[in-house]
Formats: sequence, C-alpha cells, structure tokens
Amino acid sequence: MKILVTGGAGFIGANFIKYMLKAHPEDELVCVDKLTYCGNLESLEEELKNPRMRFLKTDICDTEAVDKVFAETRPDMVVHFAAESHVDRSIEDPLIFVKTNIIGTQNLLEAARKYGIKRFHQVGTDEVYGDLPLDRPDLFFTEDLPLKPSSPYSASKASADLLVQAYHRTFGVPVTMSRCSNNYGPYQFPEKMIPLMIANALADKPLPVYGEGINVRDWLYVEDHCKAIDMIIRNGRDGEVYNIGGHNEMRNIDIVKLICKEVGKPESLITFVTDRKGHDLRYAIDPAKIGRELGWKPETMFADGIRLTIKWYLDNRSWWERIVNGEYKDYYERMYKNR
Ligand code: NAD
Ligand code: TYD
Repeated sequence: MKILVTGGAGFIGANFIKYMLKAHPEDELVCVDKLTYCGNLESLEEELKNPRMRFLKTDICDTEAVDKVFAETRPDMVVHFAAESHVDRSIEDPLIFVKTNIIGTQNLLEAARKYGIKRFHQVGTDEVYGDLPLDRPDLFFTEDLPLKPSSPYSASKASADLLVQAYHRTFGVPVTMSRCSNNYGPYQFPEKMIPLMIANALADKPLPVYGEGINVRDWLYVEDHCKAIDMIIRNGRDGEVYNIGGHNEMRNIDIVKLICKEVGKPESLITFVTDRKGHDLRYAIDPAKIGRELGWKPETMFADGIRLTIKWYLDNRSWWERIVNGEYKDYYERMYKNR
C-alpha cells in the first residue's frame, strides 16, 4: 500500500512515519510537507534513507502542486496531518490557519476525489468540541457532540472536518476522522507547553504558566496516537469519527511542577503570566468507541512518557537548541516579553 502522509516533517507526522516504516514493512510512504517554521527534515534523517520513503516539498495550499503530487504518486491512502497547529499563533494571525487548515484540506480532498483513493484520514483535534467546565468531572467529549470551537485554530480544524464529511456524503470519498487530545513526546516543536517548559527549565529560564495554571488537558504519548491512527486507517468504518485520548487529565501547573522535579530545577522558576485569550478550561476525551470497535487503548503511562520525553530532549539538545536560538527567539520575545 502507498500512503501519502501530509505534514510528515512535523511533530506527530514524523513520529507516525517512524512508526509506520517499522510496523508495516510492506508499505510505501510519500511525505508531503511545506517545511514551515515547525517542519524539520532532521526529524526524518534516518527515514529519508529508506527506499520505501519519498519526500516531496509541497505546499498543500497550492492546488496545482497537490494535483501533481497525486498524479505522480497515485497513493492508496492519505493521512492528513499538515496544519498550522499552535493556538497562540492563531490568536496572533488567524488568516494563515484558514488558508492552511481549510483550503489545504480542500485541495487534498479534491485531488483524492479526482484520482480515487481507498481512504482519506483526517487527523483532527478534540479542541473542535470547545471546552468542558472544571467543576463537572463527569462530562467527556463524545463523537456525537456538536462542534463548538473557541480559537481560530480549532475553528479552522472544525471547518476542515466538515469539508471531509461533505466530501464523503456528496462525492462518496472514503474517509475516516480522528479527534485526539494533547500529544507529547519526542520531536515536538518547543513552542508547545511541555517541550517549552523542559527547554526553559534546562536553561534556568522562567516557566511561563498562563493564568493560574488550573486548565486541564488530557495528555497522550505520541506513539499511542500513531498506533490509533494506524488502526483506524486499516479497520475503521467508512465515514466515522473516532475520539482518541488517554484518560489522563492533568492541570498545567501540576505538569510544570513535575517537569521541575524530573529535571532537578526549583519551582521558583514558575512565573504566572497573563492568561491566553479565550483559554479553554478543560479537555477530556471519552475514547470508548475506538476501544470497543478497534481494540485500541493507551499503552504509555504519563509517568513513563514524560520521563522518555525529557530524556529525549536531554539526548537531542542540538535538535531543539538550533530552533530556540533561531527565528524562534523573535516569536518568544513577541509572545512572552510583556505578558
Ligand atoms: P506541527 O505543527 O508540529 O506540524 C505541522 C506540519 O505541517 C509541519 O511539518 C509543517 O511544515 C507542515 N505544514 C504546515 N503548513 C503546511 C502547508 N501549507 N503545506 C504542507 N505542509 C504544511 O503539528 P503537530 O502537532 O504534529 O500536529 C499534526 C496534526 O495533528 C495537526 O493537524 C493537528 O491539528 C493535529 N493534532 C495535534 C495535536 C497535538 O497535541 N499536537 C493533538 C490533536 C491533533
Ligand atoms: P499547548 O501546548 O499550546 O496546547 P493547547 O493549547 O493546544 O492545549 O498548551 C497546553 C496548555 O498549557 C494550555 O492550557 C495553555 C498552557 N500553556 C501555558 O500555560 N504556558 C505556555 O507557555 C504555553 C505554550 C501553554
């Protein structure tokens, strides 16, 4: 089988490519990525030497370029990760999110319709459901909830999900969708909370916690997400949405304190800063459907996953130090200076 993976030079996409090349020696992968600020071919250094892997630098917003990729490679499946993915950046500049996440997805769907495909998998986020109150631990996101996004990021991802549904219903494109909770693990760009706190703590820099740090996220080790997607593209039902989550809810402040402990740095580095606009309070996935239908369950406990992640950032300093010392510095200044 030939699988076109969009956004394969990003965090989850790179982990997915590594997982798939190992798990399915019979498959070929074509990675399509524009290599934006967070796309990094260093993450795929070994994989790019593999004869079953091809990389094509392509902007999914470029309709003709996307058509050409499909005409040339004729994939059996598409797993669509490519996106603008950071909520804070979407608050600063929403338009690029609309372009990449909506128009980019539309271009891929159109090519999938034209060239024919066995499965188009949309990698979605639980953020499309909005948020849950902090005082109702009995409530969880289920697949049948209405979409109620809060940020330009989640609104653009919700729009993409709706286009995927429309291409399924109107044109019969075979699709599946997944909506996953927050991922953590190796190769995550250091603007996201966990790698940001690890990198800052290692450099004895302040750890900027938004608001009071009481917002709750449901954290999943990235490899568990990759396994879930693999199960869905092979055995998931056509047209269905599958929620993916770890039943691992944690408050931001508790994660930051845990990171301090694991890297041996004092909690006095923690600095409470102005809250994010529209900050979602709590995400919590009900993953019963994927468990029941496909037998998936999370395998990595948070205590183990966070240690593996910290170890990876310690062992791979050159990967992230090059990033934090590059143009990322301007972003950090802009985002955190007078916060
Ligand atoms: P990421 O930001 O690390 O990577 C995104 C990748 O997409 C990068 O390699 C980037 O170069 C590429 N890209 C961006 N614009 C492009 C364009 N116009 N054309 C081609 N490539 C382009 O993101 P991630 O955290 O790996 O997330 C991957 C997907 O998973 C996204 O769709 C995201 O919404 C979804 N998701 C992420 C999480 C999470 O916790 N990180 C959770 C649930 C769902
Ligand atoms: P993030 O990793 O950006 O993921 P998302 O917004 O998609 O959940 O943020 C995770 C949580 O951490 C979120 O509640 C915002 C918070 N946060 C901070 O407190 N400080 C930071 O510097 C960042 C980047 C995030």
